[in-house]
Amino acid sequence: MCGIVGYIGHRDAYPIIIKGLQRLEYRGYDSAGVAIYDGKNINLSKTKGKVEDLKKKSESEISLAGKLGIGHTRWATHGVPNDVNSHPHYSNSGELVIIHNGIIENYDSIKKELIKRGYVFHSDTDTEVLVNLIEEVKKKEDVKLGKAVQIALNQVVGAYAITVFDINKPDEIVVAKLGSPLAIGIGENEFFIASDASPFIEFTNNAMYLEDEQMAILRLGKEIKLRKIKDDSVVYPNIQELQLNIEEIEKGGYDHFMLKEIYEQPRAILDTYRGRLLASQGLIKMAGVDDNLEKFLNANRIIIVACGTSWHAGLVAEYIFEDLARIPVEVEYASEFRYRNPVITDKDVVIAISQSGETADTLAAIKLAKEKGAFVFGVCNVVGSSISRETDAGAYTHAGPEIGVASTKAFTTQITILTLIALKLAKEKGVFSTSKLHEFLTELENIPSKVEKALQSNKLVEKIAEVYKDSTNCLYLGRGYNFPVALEGALKLKEISYIHAEGYPAAEMKHGPIALIDEHMPVIVIATNKGHYDKVVSNIQEIKSRKGRIIAIVTEGDTTVKELADYVIEVPETFESLTPLLTTIPLQLLSYHIALMRGCNVDQPRNLAKSVTVE
Ligand code: M6R
Repeated sequence: MCGIVGYIGHRDAYPIIIKGLQRLEYRGYDSAGVAIYDGKNINLSKTKGKVEDLKKKSESEISLAGKLGIGHTRWATHGVPNDVNSHPHYSNSGELVIIHNGIIENYDSIKKELIKRGYVFHSDTDTEVLVNLIEEVKKKEDVKLGKAVQIALNQVVGAYAITVFDINKPDEIVVAKLGSPLAIGIGENEFFIASDASPFIEFTNNAMYLEDEQMAILRLGKEIKLRKIKDDSVVYPNIQELQLNIEEIEKGGYDHFMLKEIYEQPRAILDTYRGRLLASQGLIKMAGVDDNLEKFLNANRIIIVACGTSWHAGLVAEYIFEDLARIPVEVEYASEFRYRNPVITDKDVVIAISQSGETADTLAAIKLAKEKGAFVFGVCNVVGSSISRETDAGAYTHAGPEIGVASTKAFTTQITILTLIALKLAKEKGVFSTSKLHEFLTELENIPSKVEKALQSNKLVEKIAEVYKDSTNCLYLGRGYNFPVALEGALKLKEISYIHAEGYPAAEMKHGPIALIDEHMPVIVIATNKGHYDKVVSNIQEIKSRKGRIIAIVTEGDTTVKELADYVIEVPETFESLTPLLTTIPLQLLSYHIALMRGCNVDQPRNLAKSVTVE
């Protein structure tokens, strides 16, 4: 979590830093800060709150001139969100200035040691400890900043992406990474630093991503000096051409990123299967799977690890892999899997799903699975992310940047790619005939236009949101393929509208949650016509007899549920295994409208961050 931005070059740093922080605000928004160096003075401003608050404050209190600057938007770990704990942080001499994303786990013992040597601390942060440790090393060893950073980082335990400069070296910034992402944009005699490439995309397409345990000295007029933190060995920079474009990271006329991303789903799903799905030939091409086909086919089981919405996509995939490809699947919360000494062998295939590709728990689960000899396949959206680099092979979802903290298009594109993999394996295993595969692929090609149709429910959903916006609780029910959709619907509502919501398999209702139902309780039931339709209808009857309010997601033309429910929202008919791609759409819209009507910050819900890079 936390977003960091830095600039050194011939332009004014301040506008680049502020705009960059606004783009990275999805990573944390408890507080923000900026430091601009004009070669003589450091002008530093920080505040609790959002980048907009920082902008107002800094523009009224500091001089903004300077060609070197660093900025930070914080998701608090150590120390409450207040002005003092906000980054950047000075060292005691005032000569070093740092921003940091991550956690220094042994900060307390280092702090005690530094206090003994006379250091004074103003904040509760681990970051202030790190910058003073660097200062102490620099003085004691009589070394330059780069060397001091390297020695200091070898003494810390934890995760970090740092950017630090020394007032005695106005042409240099030092960066380092372990566990938290850090991209470097390379322009003409200028460098950009950021947690992802979005802050500098309009300035340069040339970028490199630091690998874990690497640091770089960025000096104007010089080549990047890239080193391994552990042993100072030289690394050759891998500079890539970025594919990102500016339109993708702006709102494009929508009020919120979340709404834009909901509406992008037809295109995003198409982009996910574009070039991979050849329906007419009954073919699926995916290099990561093609090159490792034997591993998938000989696997005893597939273990899926993920968190949050990606975990829900994993649950849908469990149904898909077992149902279509007849491969046993287990779905694990990455955070539980990594700590419970799981039985994993080299006969297991582990699929890690992550939109950001940076989720700390998922990364740790991957490392554990690799240690135990499993083949690890990644499903990520962010190109070049840590998970995409850490896994043995993988496939990108190509959903485009997802900036709203609530995941929407990530979910549907993850399901799309996992469906493709399952279908491919079904074909290779001989479970699916060519004609059956052809039929499936053709239907998959119809999904983007069916999602368009599902989006047409927006007006009706808005009306329903108006009725239920003041609810305090909400129940989401679904069976089979749509049970994970119920979980996802509930997660969407609680994370952006702060209404308590629970997702349940519809049949489990009678084992407990039914006690919650009264005339005030909205129950959202997914009741599409395939699968266990009759059983779900019985569940709806049970809710109705207890006077619960029923909002049902049904297949176009349904008449039975219409008789029972307070509201029905129709989605087009499709194969049962593809229904989650449609039924999830009105649930995303419902949470969006309710959150909006309740005055919540839809794109940046409280206490959350888009990329969870802490455990
Ligand atoms: O980037 P990831 O897919 O690994 O993120 C996992 C979760 O943090 C994420 O899905 C989270 O639950 C979202 N806020 C849900 O909308």
